[in-house]
Amino acid sequence: TIERTFSIVKPDAVERNLIGTLYQRIESAGLRIVAAKMLHLSKEQAEGFYAEHQGKPFFASLVEFMTSGPIMVQVLEGEGAINRYRELMGKTNPEEAACGTLRADYAESMQYNSVHGSDSPGSAEREIAYFFTADEIHPRC
Ligand code: CMP
Repeated sequence: TIERTFSIVKPDAVERNLIGTLYQRIESAGLRIVAAKMLHLSKEQAEGFYAEHQGKPFFASLVEFMTSGPIMVQVLEGEGAINRYRELMGKTNPEEAACGTLRADYAESMQYNSVHGSDSPGSAEREIAYFFTADEIHPRC
């Protein structure tokens, strides 16, 4: 099934000039970027996006990190895009991420982990709608 998923190139990766490298890796994995923009999130935007983590010990520092500089947000489309992109990213903790995954190659820590991806069809739908209107998405399929 052709799916869409939501992706973020986080502030640590934008700061290290890795946008193009990460886009290359995404495209080489068979995913198509069908929407994209650069944003600098407000505190309110970051808190709303990560609302499911409210109350967790890392929430405040996560919001501070995600508002610390610009990010790239993308919609990715492809066969099994949600799991395909999760496999490409590797585990949240770069020390547990498999060799050759984005987080193994680029993440600096559990928090500064370079990329985000939706973890389920429901979160993909919510996350895409959080940042993109229908007219900003240019699907091939
Ligand atoms: P992300 O996939 O964007 O989802 C939540 C983010 O919280 C996660 O990536 C990490 O950047 C950050 N985070 C920081 N500490 C933790 C933790 N202990 N467990 C999970 N996520 C964490």
